[in-house]
Amino acid sequence: MKIVVIGGSGLIGSKVVSKLREQGHEAVAASPKSGVNSITGEGLAEALKGASVVVDVTNSPSWEDAAVMTFFETSTRNLLAYGAAAGVKHHVALSVVGTERLLASGFFRAKMAQENLIKASSIPYTIIRATQFFEFVKGIADFPRKATKYACQLRSSSLWRPTMSPVR
Ligand SMILES: NC(=O)c1ccc[n+]([C@@H]2O[C@H](COP(=O)([O-])OP(=O)(O)OC[C@H]3O[C@@H](n4cnc5c(N)ncnc54)[C@H](OP(=O)(O)O)[C@@H]3O)[C@@H](O)[C@H]2O)c1
Repeated sequence: MKIVVIGGSGLIGSKVVSKLREQGHEAVAASPKSGVNSITGEGLAEALKGASVVVDVTNSPSWEDAAVMTFFETSTRNLLAYGAAAGVKHHVALSVVGTERLLASGFFRAKMAQENLIKASSIPYTIIRATQFFEFVKGIADFPRKATKYACQLRSSSLWRPTMSPVR
C-alpha cells in the first residue's frame, strides 16, 4: 500500500516511515526537505498520486498563536483537498491527549482546529492522540527552574493518561 507521511522527516514521522517500510508498505517521507510543502502545495499532487493513506505528522515551525493556527489550518485544508483529488482513502493525523481541555494555549487551539477540519472532511479518518511529555524530559532535567513549572503543570493535569488514545 502506498502511504505518504507528511512530516516524514520529523521526530515522529521518521519513525512512522521506518515502521511502515518494515511492514512492507511503500512509505513515502514527504516534507519541505524533499520538496513537498503542505502550506504552499508544492509537490503535494505528485507525492499523493496513487496513495491510499496520508499520515499527517507535520508541525508548525512557529508556536506563536497566530502563526501556529495559520499553519495547521492551511496545511490541513491543503492535505484534505489534495488528498480528495488524489483519491486518498484514509487520512491519519497525530494530535495530543487533552487537546480539548487546553484551549487557553494557541498551540492546542490550532490542534483542535486541525482535528475539526479532518472530522468535517469527506475522507475517512483516524485521529490518534498521544502525550508529548517524554520528549521534554531532557529539557526538564537540564533546567531546574523550568522543572518546577512543568511539575506544577503535570500535577494539575493528573487526569491525563500517558497512553495512545484513538478518537476514532
Ligand atoms: N512528538 C510527540 O511526542 C508528539 C505527541 C503528540 C502529538 N504530536 C504531533 O505530531 C506532529 C509531529 O510532531 P513531531 O514532534 O514529530 O514534529 P517535528 O519533529 O518538529 O517534525 C515536524 C515535521 O513537519 C514537517 N513540516 C514543517 N513544515 C511543513 C510544511 N510546510 N509542509 C510539510 N511538512 C512540514 C517538517 O519537515 P522538514 O524537516 O522538511 O522541515 C518535519 O518533518 C505534531 O503535529 C504534533 O502536535 C507529537
